[in-house]
Amino acid sequence: MIALGIESTAHTFGVGIVDEKAKVLANEKSALKTETGGIHPQKAADHHLEKGLEVLRNALEKASLDLKDIDVIAFAQGPGLGPCLRIGAVGARTIALIHNKPLVGVNHCIAHIEIGRKKTNAKDPVALYVSGGNTQVISYRNNRYRIFGETLDIGIGNLLDSFGRRLGIGFPAGPVLDRWYFEGHKFAKLPYSVKGMDLVFSGLETAAAKKIGTIGKKDLAYSLLHTAFSMLAEVTERALAQTGKKEVLIVGGVAASKALQQIVSKMCEERGAKMFVPNVQFCVDNGAMIAWQGLLEFMHGKRTPVLNSAVKQRFRTDEVEVNWL
Ligand code: ATP
Ligand code: FE2
Repeated sequence: MIALGIESTAHTFGVGIVDEKAKVLANEKSALKTETGGIHPQKAADHHLEKGLEVLRNALEKASLDLKDIDVIAFAQGPGLGPCLRIGAVGARTIALIHNKPLVGVNHCIAHIEIGRKKTNAKDPVALYVSGGNTQVISYRNNRYRIFGETLDIGIGNLLDSFGRRLGIGFPAGPVLDRWYFEGHKFAKLPYSVKGMDLVFSGLETAAAKKIGTIGKKDLAYSLLHTAFSMLAEVTERALAQTGKKEVLIVGGVAASKALQQIVSKMCEERGAKMFVPNVQFCVDNGAMIAWQGLLEFMHGKRTPVLNSAVKQRFRTDEVEVNWL
């Protein structure tokens, strides 16, 4: 059985093709590049409209398949930016209707976790989903992926990119700050803001911005990342404690950060837990994760009639009844 998945929640338009063993036959994408890091929803949607067909063709060519060979059409139904989501949804509906294929709308956050689980062999992890727009600590309990903690303001990747902009680093700034983390030495105290199980980053950014010019850029990068990632590690650790689980799975674009991996793996070591990080192509937004999630749900009976396929900008992780575990 073969599924084709369309990802278009933010600045990436991706098309992935996978089989029922999660073998990835294609995982093509095009991402809108911006100077500033901010995404203008309509500009991203225009990018998807412009590149979508080409990405689809590339994926089919890579997999040496024709649309008629596909069994399931999956798409990211949310959460994300409305105009962007709609391009992917219209594409998926069109293919499904013309080729008479079943349609499955999936939750983008859950897709990150499931492809991560499949590719790393993590069994029942606490997932730390860290990207530009999202920061959530998620774990499975009683038929749902529950959100144990999350950002109350900006995503961790946005923090890195927007702070990087203040330092004059181009977008994305995450990888540069991550390198600087290991080159900085002096630690400047910055506001550490964990509220219950939730996180707040904007005060941290403001305070760090005030320090620009008073200490070296690399020291500041070290201080900012150390503070923000320690906050993530604390909430993840408390989710481990609450659930009694022994695995941490990091997904999302910021999972590529060596600094984050170091801080989380140290916490895991101290608790006797194991850390898993998938290959970067499955961490960032991609079509293969949508295809795999769609196929999983399809094999467990899910169908999304076209009339129920409207996009959900605020599609919550815990709205989905999990029947495939
Ligand atoms: P989502 O729609 O799920 O919020 P996204 O559109 O932000 O995702 P991703 O590719 O998942 O896209 O994540 C991009 C983020 O990852 C950017 O903020 C970028 O700075 C950050 N990033 C990428 N590589 C690294 C790295 N090595 N260290 C730290 N941050 C990184
Ligand atoms: Fe994502």
